[in-house]
Amino acid sequence: MRVTMIGSGYVGLVSGACFADFGHVVTCVDTDAAKIEALNRGEIPIFEPGLDDLVAKNAREGRLYFTTELDEAVARADAIFIAVGTPARRGDGHADLSYVYQAARDVVAKLDGFTVVVTKSTVPVGTGDEVERIMRETRPEADFAVVSNPEFLREGAAIADFKRPDRIVIGTEDARARAVMEELYRPLYLNAAPLLFTSRRTSELTKYAANAFLATKITFINEMADLCEQVGANVQEVARGIGLDNRIGSKFLHAGPGYGGSCFPKDTLALMKTAQDLAAPLRIVETVVAINDQRKRAMARKVITACGGSVRGKRIAILGLAFKPNTDDMREAPSIAIITALQDAGAEIVAYDPESMGPAQSLLPDIKYAADAYSCLEGADALVIVTEWDAFRALDLARVKTGLREPVVVDLRNIYRSEDMRRRGFQYTNVGNA
Ligand SMILES: NC(=O)c1ccc[n+]([C@@H]2O[C@H](COP(=O)([O-])OP(=O)(O)OC[C@H]3O[C@@H](n4cnc5c(N)ncnc54)[C@H](O)[C@@H]3O)[C@@H](O)[C@H]2O)c1
Repeated sequence: MRVTMIGSGYVGLVSGACFADFGHVVTCVDTDAAKIEALNRGEIPIFEPGLDDLVAKNAREGRLYFTTELDEAVARADAIFIAVGTPARRGDGHADLSYVYQAARDVVAKLDGFTVVVTKSTVPVGTGDEVERIMRETRPEADFAVVSNPEFLREGAAIADFKRPDRIVIGTEDARARAVMEELYRPLYLNAAPLLFTSRRTSELTKYAANAFLATKITFINEMADLCEQVGANVQEVARGIGLDNRIGSKFLHAGPGYGGSCFPKDTLALMKTAQDLAAPLRIVETVVAINDQRKRAMARKVITACGGSVRGKRIAILGLAFKPNTDDMREAPSIAIITALQDAGAEIVAYDPESMGPAQSLLPDIKYAADAYSCLEGADALVIVTEWDAFRALDLARVKTGLREPVVVDLRNIYRSEDMRRRGFQYTNVGNA
């Protein structure tokens, strides 16, 4: 089949490369000319494990193309995926749908023959109806169906998630569109990935419900961690104790500095706003959003306490900036709020991250960036672990201790063990006495 991706970011590029690897012929379109030029030179504009090889292989074998030109890519496509950004709108927190609507207008002008237009971007319930309305209004005679097919991949494990998803949700009641979607995802039948066909609105809401539920789980264990600290209990053991119950499950029960990233913060907010507008407020989600907002600066207070009540004039080493390991994505990373709060309190910040220091520079211009973990912590008054990159899990602790001016370690991801760290002479703080 011929597939066109509108938007070649984290989702469009990974989905496009994976569809090409299944044997479809894919054209990835983006308005960002620099991104497309880089892709055509064989450079991958983001860090995602395995993506460089997958893109190179499929481009070499003639199944994956990159362009800024919509015309031909749209006219020949069986399916066109809209995978553009839907960031939180400034001011009110609703999803900004301007990129989606622009893509719909761009696409409809070039359609030729029956085409399935698929929203892969995360969009509020009812957006498919509006996309369809815009397209029909622009070109009443065009032959198309608008389908919802939200993406559930995780950055850092995106290729495996796309190729071996827990499920694929497809929102359409159009028989022709259903046949095209079945054909597109047919390669996944081998992996027994269930294809759930629903109404378009149900599909759109399912994506938000999934993200809101996961954000709730994280927030639940984060609050439990705070209580553990007050009563001398261990949050990791509590998480294991509840997670082994199949009804609860062990995933997303790792206490930490609060969720961040390009999805959970904006999606919980957008869902909350939609529900409020429709007079069906989601009070649990509202509370989750409020708790998570406060948590990041609370983590800075934890660092200040660990430093004896003040960080003024102190040098704080930060290991990890990306919102999670194995990505360079800095969108809504907890590190931003934590570092800003520490700077507000008078600290000097030195940071190191294996992949995200490039994207971080514009968000955190007035911190120092180190070349590696050990030079980052050299002479620092405290070390704060913010992202649990594998490379930080087995640091040479003797070297860490001699490098630091004071042996203060604040581990916001619980990657070390309290007893061990204290035995080695560190003043060690983590989340929930793990
Ligand atoms: N990043 C994730 O892990 C993830 C996971 C699941 C769902 N999503 C959702 O997928 C969508 C895309 O997210 P992303 O992280 O890939 O965003 P991104 O910002 O990395 O990529 C979006 C791309 O779309 C391009 N673009 C914007 N308007 C365009 C247009 N009219 N024509 C062509 N290209 C255009 C931009 O230049 C950009 O390269 C969002 O709705 C997001 O919520 C993201």
